[in-house]
Amino acid sequence: MNNIYAFKYSLLQNNTFSRLSLRQNLIVLDELSSTNDYLKELLSNIKPLREGTAIMARHQTRGRGQRGSTWLTTKDENLTFSVLLYPDNLAVEETFRLNMLICLGIQQALSQYQIEATVKWPNDIYVQDKKIGGILIENKLKGGLIRSSIIGIGLNVNQQSFPAAIAHKATSLRLAKQAATPFPIDEFCISILHGMMQYYQTHATHETAEILSEYNNRLYRKGIPAKFLVQGKEQIGRIVGANAQGKLAVDIEEQRLHFDLKEISFII
Ligand code: BTN
Repeated sequence: MNNIYAFKYSLLQNNTFSRLSLRQNLIVLDELSSTNDYLKELLSNIKPLREGTAIMARHQTRGRGQRGSTWLTTKDENLTFSVLLYPDNLAVEETFRLNMLICLGIQQALSQYQIEATVKWPNDIYVQDKKIGGILIENKLKGGLIRSSIIGIGLNVNQQSFPAAIAHKATSLRLAKQAATPFPIDEFCISILHGMMQYYQTHATHETAEILSEYNNRLYRKGIPAKFLVQGKEQIGRIVGANAQGKLAVDIEEQRLHFDLKEISFII
């Protein structure tokens, strides 16, 4: 049996240009298979859901990650939530714009906790050399435009030990801050949601070049010689930056190459 709690979070108070109303719903459930799937179901079942509606699960049992992976998280220790957006007039080819806005919004929200996060292309959130969170964006398309977008966010909050296979490359808010006591997850959720949505709202109309430049300034391992796996071969490369289509430019052996997601991976 699920207990349901509903919180309100405020957005851009007194901003008359805000597309979102001042008070949005954050619905918290004890257990869900996946907050993205639940929000998707709500979206298809019920009369229009308001932009900014968010679902958080205290325990997510079948979380999904990027590229068909699973997102494992321990009960009551980490943050798993999804939020609904209706991007304004955003063409399918501009999907990466949304990705950048969300990454930067989260990174900005984390800075309120004095966490200096970077973005590991395309949308992993890193603190130093370790992943603190990930994003799964699922869009519904209509007539070449993104009609609605479900932004699923997983952030490690209080977890202090990770399975051996990922222990060297995973961290949490508590570990990064070396905090003696756990962080209240509901509170953390509201501040991440609030910070991220404020960033999204204030930057949604900015030029892509401007967003791209900010994204590239926050890029993990940019300009630093590092090891990559390219077509099964280990290579040393130097990240130059992403382009508006979301491809990653990397200098390898004096050549500038552009990769999409399936063509390159980091060796960490
Ligand atoms: C990644 O692979 O890095 C992306 C992970 C995204 C996980 C979040 S947790 C909340 C939301 N619900 C899901 O099933 N996945 C996303």
